[in-house]
Amino acid sequence: MMADIKFKQTEDFQSVVWLDSMCFPSDHPLTDFEETVFWIGSFEGHPVAYCGAKPIDETCVYLSRVGVLKEFRGQGLQRRMIKLRERWAKKEGYKEIISATSRANYASSNNLIACGYKLYEPEEAWLEDGAFYFIKSLDKKPKISSIT
Ligand SMILES: CC(C)(COP(=O)(O)OP(=O)(O)OC[C@H]1O[C@@H](n2cnc3c(N)ncnc32)[C@H](O)[C@@H]1OP(=O)(O)O)[C@@H](O)C(=O)NCCC(=O)NCCS
Repeated sequence: MMADIKFKQTEDFQSVVWLDSMCFPSDHPLTDFEETVFWIGSFEGHPVAYCGAKPIDETCVYLSRVGVLKEFRGQGLQRRMIKLRERWAKKEGYKEIISATSRANYASSNNLIACGYKLYEPEEAWLEDGAFYFIKSLDKKPKISSIT
């Protein structure tokens, strides 16, 4: 059964750090709070998923860390978090979203592809060799402008 998860923008960095440590147990701890906007997804009042969006410049937002607690995976929560950050970025006037995954993160790559992201080659790679870089324009005009 799908759990009823509610997402909210948050400044509860303690919960973000806790979720991050559960989802990335062997990675370095999250410290980048100043320029990143975070959301937490809660189930019955408990945090179970989180994500961040970091503006890179006036037009571009980076989908930064994302994680879902193990018991709540497989319910499309990453896709919901991609879409909620897109809605936020559009509302804030950004034109482009980028993201990156390590090569073996099939779930993340497939979720980004399912949400319309394309692979691209950044000018300067910032992850390890073989990582995948994704981009999506928020500026596309709809193909059909009127229905007659
Ligand atoms: C990556 C992560 C956020 C995905 O969360 P999620 O919302 O539960 O995503 P799911 O596991 O439901 O993945 C859904 C899609 O991924 C793909 N997928 C999942 N596992 C996969 C696998 N082993 N191989 C290939 N594709 C896979 C499928 O396309 C699936 O789509 P479907 O639902 O249409 O079948 C979660 O696994 C996580 O928190 N991992 C640890 C932290 C992490 O790696 N964060 C991302 C860093 S970029």
